[in-house]
Amino acid sequence: MLQRFNAHIRKFAATLLTERLDPASAGAAVFLGIFIGIVPIYGLQTLAAVGLAVLLRLNKPLTLAATFINNPLLLPPIVISSVELGDFLRHGSIRPWHLAALSGVQLKEQLFSWVLGSLVLGLLVGGAAAIVTAAVVHWMAPSRRGLREHIRFVNRTFAGSARFDRGFVRWKMRLDRIFSLLAAEELGSGTVVDLGCGYGMALSFAAFRDGRRLVGCDLNAHRIAVAQQALRALNAETSVQDVRHFALPPAGLILILDVLQYLSGEEQLALLKRCCASLEPGGRLIFRVHDRERGLWSALTVGLDRLLFSVERVGARPIILSAAQYRSVLQEAGMQVECRRFRNRLPLAHILFLARRPAAESAL
Ligand SMILES: C[S@@+](CC[C@H](N)C(=O)[O-])C[C@H]1O[C@@H](n2cnc3c(N)ncnc32)[C@H](O)[C@@H]1O
Repeated sequence: MLQRFNAHIRKFAATLLTERLDPASAGAAVFLGIFIGIVPIYGLQTLAAVGLAVLLRLNKPLTLAATFINNPLLLPPIVISSVELGDFLRHGSIRPWHLAALSGVQLKEQLFSWVLGSLVLGLLVGGAAAIVTAAVVHWMAPSRRGLREHIRFVNRTFAGSARFDRGFVRWKMRLDRIFSLLAAEELGSGTVVDLGCGYGMALSFAAFRDGRRLVGCDLNAHRIAVAQQALRALNAETSVQDVRHFALPPAGLILILDVLQYLSGEEQLALLKRCCASLEPGGRLIFRVHDRERGLWSALTVGLDRLLFSVERVGARPIILSAAQYRSVLQEAGMQVECRRFRNRLPLAHILFLARRPAAESAL
């Protein structure tokens, strides 16, 4: 009986503590608690904090905890700063504060300054604490932790590569948002194929935790040599080959990241069709292309690619089809399609297509 009661209490406490702890809600709870803790409604703060947290569906323990900014240690500086701030807002200057001001004719004046100042101070301190809280919660989120573990794994995989290559991998892992998007996805099972794999970073990323078979190809012999050396301890085969003629094995996941633009429009569509046909039931095809519909961001993205093409002496211009063309070739091949538009940390606009071949039962 007592054990069951304890279990209920523990469950209730866990629900309370973990309720709505996404970055925005946690930030809002801290903002509310601090604001209420600073404004002079002494005696009503707990009631106001819990009541508003219930009303706004915020985390109640966190809101309540934030009101403890009002504690014996911080109360004097909070009151003095509120009065000074209120004075400054009303008269445009700060007057030296002294206890005598809290008596006699000045009392009403000072009370007014205190209330006004505390409202503004509450907004400022609450706002700053909310930003810090949201950032910390975002950083500590399990998905972020998963991402960090993935990134560490990839960096370890390339730890023995030459300095420039190792540095390139580190910077790319840090800057390219594609990896946080991939970390949040279910990447299927079975063979992973990365077409135009470059150094093989995405292959290493996909191999985190399970020893999946990894297959990759790229035209760049140096990058393939780096990939072969780095991925040698994994179940990987990478080779210098053209994606247009690469014999695709049956795969659970096919990746094409920033490669389609090197091919003509017809070649891109033909490759995507071949990929769809090579996927096992439930398998995924994930590819990234530039977003042509983001105005200045699109111009910057294509401009940067043109620069890259001329440095690499590709001898052609990047070709990007419309999102509708990519979508329709996938749908014609019977794929379920999702697409995510996103801006990268560098000012680049991309679309990530996430297509899934229906599992055998649901395809019937
Ligand atoms: C922008 S890089 C992307 C590399 C890799 N997918 C990544 O995300 O790190 C484009 C890569 O595509 C490769 N590539 C371009 N055309 C190709 C083709 N026809 N066959 C194989 N690889 C190709 C280039 O050599 C280059 O490594």
